[in-house]
Amino acid sequence: MREEILNLKNEALAQIMDVVSFDDLENLKISYLGRKGKINDFIKKIGELPQTDKKEIGNLINDSKKVIEVTLAKKKEGLTSSLLSKKEWFDLTIPGNKTSAGHFHPQTTVLNEILDIFKYLGYQIADGPEIEKDYYNFEVLNFPPEHPARDAQQTMFFDVSNTSFKEGQVIPRTHTSAMQGRVMEASKPPLRVIVPGRCFRYEQVDASHGVEFWQVEGFVVDKAVHLTDLFGTIEFVLKSLFGQSAKIKFATTFFPFVEPGVDAYLECTVCDGRGCTFCKQTGWSEIMPAGMIHPNVLSKSKIDSKIWNGFAFAIGLSRVVSLRYQIDDLRVLHTPDLRILKQF
Ligand code: DAH
Repeated sequence: MREEILNLKNEALAQIMDVVSFDDLENLKISYLGRKGKINDFIKKIGELPQTDKKEIGNLINDSKKVIEVTLAKKKEGLTSSLLSKKEWFDLTIPGNKTSAGHFHPQTTVLNEILDIFKYLGYQIADGPEIEKDYYNFEVLNFPPEHPARDAQQTMFFDVSNTSFKEGQVIPRTHTSAMQGRVMEASKPPLRVIVPGRCFRYEQVDASHGVEFWQVEGFVVDKAVHLTDLFGTIEFVLKSLFGQSAKIKFATTFFPFVEPGVDAYLECTVCDGRGCTFCKQTGWSEIMPAGMIHPNVLSKSKIDSKIWNGFAFAIGLSRVVSLRYQIDDLRVLHTPDLRILKQF
């Protein structure tokens, strides 16, 4: 028995040495020192021994048990300190490597800002088709067929051969004003609506023109709306976008669907009014064409123009983006080059 006890002790010590986890260490402790453990098996057998051996074997078992206990405790300390020393190599507080999440395109950022300003003013947002009927793009907006004001819209046309459409019956919309008639027809005044969207024109592409561009059309139909309400709205919007010190001026202009028509200009933020290619050396940038809605537009859309009136305006989105970020060439906004996009 003496030999068996010594073997058991050696076996226990060898196993304890090899252990690498707290769980395994605990299991070893249970299997050797637990109530049903191997040491207890020997203790139970002491009763069967001749009287002369009892004391010696009893002492041997006790000594072995102590050695195992001490070795277990030491191993536990060893495991703990090796975990602590590993902490130097695995510091949970060090920030991890960030994966690049990307960000909004500057045009989307500015558009969201514009939408927020108008939501604050109680406007609803409408969305409409990019391929539009001549009726909504022109006719309802008081551009009769053959009217010269159509020329200014630089319309692109589809090849309609082999279709049931007539030439020019449906076109890529030239402005989001095309949604005025659709909204007016479908809903009852009072109305406060903005229409963000893509428009298309046959333009010579240069620093401030593209064949594809974004506009935010807006209009209000209510009772007793005044030109000063329009001025106040434009001023509020432009100062919200460009800061309270933004300089704004108005001039008259012509669009068939408004009377009178006005153009809002913002002092050029690219050159601070000194004159640059972006503002064509004038120091001012035409930013919001607008006007009081022509009664013909209302009555064509079955709104009684004796009771209701209103104003309309448009914001050239890329113009706002370039003035905001001082970009003197719109074309950079539409390149997929990350070296450019990362700068915003
Ligand atoms: N739709 C016009 C254009 O793109 C811009 C415009 C002018 C819109 C006057 C308006 C307005 O709502 O009142 O050329």
